[in-house]
Amino acid sequence: MRNKILILLFCIILILLSSCERTEEEKMSYIYDVEPIFISSCVLCHTAGHYSNLDLSSYNGLMAGESLNGPVIKAYYPDLSLLFEKIVAEQPSIGSPMPLGGSALTGTEIQVIELWIFDGAKNN
Ligand code: HEC
Repeated sequence: MRNKILILLFCIILILLSSCERTEEEKMSYIYDVEPIFISSCVLCHTAGHYSNLDLSSYNGLMAGESLNGPVIKAYYPDLSLLFEKIVAEQPSIGSPMPLGGSALTGTEIQVIELWIFDGAKNN
């Protein structure tokens, strides 16, 4: 009897642990998930004072809202964020698709940025 209860408890703990993991996976971190994408594909052109005055080398730069066409991230709304539009659309409403002249971001990279904006574009 005691063994059965222990096994049951063990199973409940396992189920709780695995569901926690799933929510963690959907939450993206700026530092660990998003910034590395900008560093490898964007900061070549987008540092302070460079193209469109958009600085993608830091969270503060990204969120400053001082680039040519104003804020590029609208927290919680990937579809209303110019930055997201420019990495997914073949013909964005403003200028060219990004990264300019390079190959498009991978599906996974796009999804990371989308989920991060969707979760509030936090400095996490
Ligand atoms: C080879 C240089 C280059 C690279 C690499 C590059 N960009 Fe750009 N970016 C530009 C230029 C030039 C413009 C201005 C023309 C335009 O909007 O198409 C621009 C404009 C933008 C704008 C519009 C800013 C505004 O306010 O109008 C966004 C957003 C943007 N880039 C995001 C990115 C992202 C995200 C990456 C990386 C995935 C990236 N760019 C990589 C050159 C680059």
